Amino acid sequence: MSQSLPKPKTPSGGFRRIAIIGAGYVGLPTAALLSHFGHSVIVAERDQRKLDILRDGRSPIFEKDLEEYLRAGVSAKKLTFSDSAAEAVKDAEFVFLCVPTPQGDDGSADLSYIVAAAQEIGPHLIQDAIVVNKSTVPVGTAHLVERETGRDDIRVVSNPEFLREGTALADSLAPDRIVVGADDQEAAAAVAALFSPTHAPVVVTDATTAETIKYASNAFLATKLSFINAIAGLAEAVGADVKDIVLGLGYDKRIGFEFLKPGPGWGGSCLPKDTSALVKIGEDHGYDFALLRGAIASNEAQLERIVDKVLAAVDGKIAGAAVAVWGLTFKAGTDDRRASPALDICQRLVAKGAKVTAFDPEVPPANAGADDLRGITLATDSYEAVRDAQVVVLLTEWAEFRWLDFSKVADLMQSRVIVDARNHLDPAPLKRLGFSYQGVGRT
Ligand code: UGA
Repeated sequence: MSQSLPKPKTPSGGFRRIAIIGAGYVGLPTAALLSHFGHSVIVAERDQRKLDILRDGRSPIFEKDLEEYLRAGVSAKKLTFSDSAAEAVKDAEFVFLCVPTPQGDDGSADLSYIVAAAQEIGPHLIQDAIVVNKSTVPVGTAHLVERETGRDDIRVVSNPEFLREGTALADSLAPDRIVVGADDQEAAAAVAALFSPTHAPVVVTDATTAETIKYASNAFLATKLSFINAIAGLAEAVGADVKDIVLGLGYDKRIGFEFLKPGPGWGGSCLPKDTSALVKIGEDHGYDFALLRGAIASNEAQLERIVDKVLAAVDGKIAGAAVAVWGLTFKAGTDDRRASPALDICQRLVAKGAKVTAFDPEVPPANAGADDLRGITLATDSYEAVRDAQVVVLLTEWAEFRWLDFSKVADLMQSRVIVDARNHLDPAPLKRLGFSYQGVGRT
């Protein structure tokens, strides 16, 4: 990134006063973007540790370019932070709710943070304030938020977020589309105007449709991934190469190349939670979303298929086997381990008695002892992880794994066996070094 950020155009509705509730993976990129566009933004966050980090000019999450945009916003006096949502909204024309909506016990989204935020801000909102739901929320939540604020003079707009972790800033600066939904179309258009410097196409609709678009997008992406993982399985069965299948598919513009990389299964804090929530939303409204249930079941099978590859690599003798793992985060470019397929697979191997030693550039050994890392030994680097290992399993596609000294890896390992669950490595040089290589969907 250059020192000074490119100056964006003035938003079509002018510069506005905005409060953002929640400094997480959605709230912070949104705050960085809107302050970059020249709006006055205040972020409310309860977690004192996060606030201290933000006030120190740093980002509490690992996200490319985020820190630089946050700092620029602060030094331009466009971005401030508060520990009180009530305080943050008292002057705001727009209030973005960016709080978590974790998965409840029955698969549905847990709305307790949204409800608590709406109740907290309600009495402090200015007359005619526009409250924006950016958190992923079930159909009907816009109306719920309106009720929970206890105010009849405000308007609620659903403005779902489509950014990906790891590329959040780039996605926010150049989104494919802006979706805004509300009963009051004027309020929806006012929210869209905040983002006008992006020049993205705008879909203006009602709140229920906007809420459904968010779930439909993630459900489609998840289904596409389950599809290509299933094709990878089929390719193995018939002796075809999934990499070439993707080329043959992707050139068809109706299909495209995006989201067609087979892997260990899809994970992260969004796709698993949102697909389960959508199935539940369907059930609650008398609709059986069998296709999506199938995509979820297929994802579960994919995790197990990778475990089977590891089992086969140690001739079924997994109890006590030394298994090295490269990558623990749910994808490269993030430090997020929530619903990570890599961790899920590690835990399945640990449960079968494997001795798992893992390296991830964003999960240094200082993380040892964390609940989700139980039974996993954390190595300091990729080489340390493979020392005396019988097999190494690549689970997250960090670029640095491509450029390792594989002859050193070969010398360190007990046996030269690689399971590449991301098709991330070039098999030819590995085979020349005497490695047995197993990818996904390639023979
Ligand atoms: C996802 C959506 O892509 C965003 O559009 C959405 O805004 C976000 O959820 C959300 O709802 O907040 P994200 O969770 O950051 O974004 O992760 P993705 O990049 O979608 O990846 C999801 C999973 O699919 C990861 O485990 C990833 O490794 C896997 N994946 C992705 C593949 O296995 N192959 C691919 O070709 C792409």
